[in-house]
Amino acid sequence: MSKTEKLLVTGYGGFVAGSVVWQALRAGNWDVYALSLDEPPRQEKDFHVIQFDLLDDTRLRQVFTQIQPKAVIHTAALADIDYCENHPDDATRVNVGITRDLAGLCAESGARMTLCSTDTVFDGRRGMYVETDAPNPLNHYAQTKVEAEETVRTTLEWGVIARLSLVMGLPVLGAGNSFLAKMIDSLQRGEKVKFPANEVRTPIDVITLGGALLELAATDFTGTIHLAGSTRLNRYQMACQLARDFGYSDDAVMATDSNAMEGRAPRPNDASLDNTRAKNTLRTPMRPLMDGLRLVKEAKAIQTP
Ligand SMILES: NC(=O)c1ccc[n+]([C@@H]2O[C@H](COP(=O)([O-])OP(=O)(O)OC[C@H]3O[C@@H](n4cnc5c(N)ncnc54)[C@H](OP(=O)(O)O)[C@@H]3O)[C@@H](O)[C@H]2O)c1
Repeated sequence: MSKTEKLLVTGYGGFVAGSVVWQALRAGNWDVYALSLDEPPRQEKDFHVIQFDLLDDTRLRQVFTQIQPKAVIHTAALADIDYCENHPDDATRVNVGITRDLAGLCAESGARMTLCSTDTVFDGRRGMYVETDAPNPLNHYAQTKVEAEETVRTTLEWGVIARLSLVMGLPVLGAGNSFLAKMIDSLQRGEKVKFPANEVRTPIDVITLGGALLELAATDFTGTIHLAGSTRLNRYQMACQLARDFGYSDDAVMATDSNAMEGRAPRPNDASLDNTRAKNTLRTPMRPLMDGLRLVKEAKAIQTP
């Protein structure tokens, strides 16, 4: 691939985009344009950060038309489930509206587009969902993602819908919303941490995920793909394993039931994803949880500012 090809990544200051951008810069085969609401502008050879609100569709069109990206990885979203439940109009505007605008621009220009969707589009009654299973969202966040998926599917013949399992890791660029970073901070302070035992997931580490999204941006795969790790476990079991690996006792980890907690949006119990399609399609391996954690630690150790 020629380095003149431009990659547009939305949500640069977020957890997932940080890994995508970091790996794209290290690989050195893209001219990277990262869009951010909060991160300050930056202009370097092969790396540009442009700061604006993606809800400004006029500015988005202007920026997109100037860049003419070959591929777009759309991570930007309101991703806090309870915030989305309490601010449904905001969530729809950001998660559906921006996706619609971007898909329209990609349709006009022929750019590839990969949307980051979620395992929580499923109702969690069965688990190990395949790409052809019917979504049945339990909360407004998941509903917006189902609508965003539909927008990409109907606007772009060549669109990619990547449904991500719970993402595990430490932020590699920017702050990002990492449960692992928060958990380690709490454990370091001697506090107990709580994780739901009712939520069964197939967590994927943020490094493998970033690599898979970059691979999808450069291949001709179209359609829906589940990006998920190869370990299926509940979030309490996962937290115990991670805590032990960082040298803490799992006595500090307490099990909760997220669907028995007052004032919280409903969550799917078993939203584990079958990753067979990803294993058959991508060179990036879908890894077991603790292999993913090793990659996360290596990335943190070699990370450059
Ligand atoms: N993390 C997970 O476990 C998980 C699991 C399944 C699916 N997903 C999906 O994967 C994607 C990335 O997740 P994440 O964990 O990286 O989320 P995140 O850390 O919350 O990052 C989302 C980013 O979206 C950007 N954003 C939000 N509103 C914006 C606006 N109006 N204009 C411009 N940018 C805006 C912000 O970027 P700036 O900081 O640059 O302003 C924000 O940091 C999301 O679509 C999420 O729904 C995540």
